[in-house]
Amino acid sequence: MTARLVVLVSGSGTNLQALLDACADPAYGASVVAVGADRDDIEGLARAERAGVPTFVARVGDFSSRDHWDRALADKVAAFEPDLVVLAGFMKLVGPGFLAAFGGRTVNTHPALSPSFPGMHGPRDALDYGVKVTGCTLFVVDEGVDTGVILAQSVVPVQDDDDVESLHERIKVAERAMLVDTVGRMAREGFRVEGRRGLLGR
Ligand code: GAR
Repeated sequence: MTARLVVLVSGSGTNLQALLDACADPAYGASVVAVGADRDDIEGLARAERAGVPTFVARVGDFSSRDHWDRALADKVAAFEPDLVVLAGFMKLVGPGFLAAFGGRTVNTHPALSPSFPGMHGPRDALDYGVKVTGCTLFVVDEGVDTGVILAQSVVPVQDDDDVESLHERIKVAERAMLVDTVGRMAREGFRVEGRRGLLGR
């Protein structure tokens, strides 16, 4: 059975593209059935359109409250009956309404080694701190900011002459490989959570 993925994006969508490319092989075990965003006119949506994948947008500003937005987003995602929701550079926190529908089967990729440097500026915060290695983390989304159970991590060295952009680009290379590998395994083998441990396989 092919797992149905809905991917949510806010920007350039290179992680989405890696998933779209992987899903072209039926042996991968998953298919991107829709791509959603919290804003218009982004390359992530254009990538979906070029791949012939349906898209939708839910802008926070179009709703009377954050909760209404959150529930509307959940409804739009639900229309595509996903097995797994992948936040791939989605720059909004999903809330209780969304998690009531998709908690336990929503994953997010973060450009730092959790629990270090949560939030919107993982690469910048790692560089400012002066760490010698950083990386990326794939986790099951919970109510916190990048606090969910970890499914995969990759380590990336920080180089002496890095700026935020060069470091983030190096992280994103590792991140795309981590995302494709782990989501594929989740689709084919399943996954489970035991306390704080996220484990692949049933
Ligand atoms: C990725 O590095 C992702 O981890 C990060 O945004 C980038 C999106 O790149 N997400 C966050 O920082 C979320 N807190 P992409 O649009 O090219 O896939």
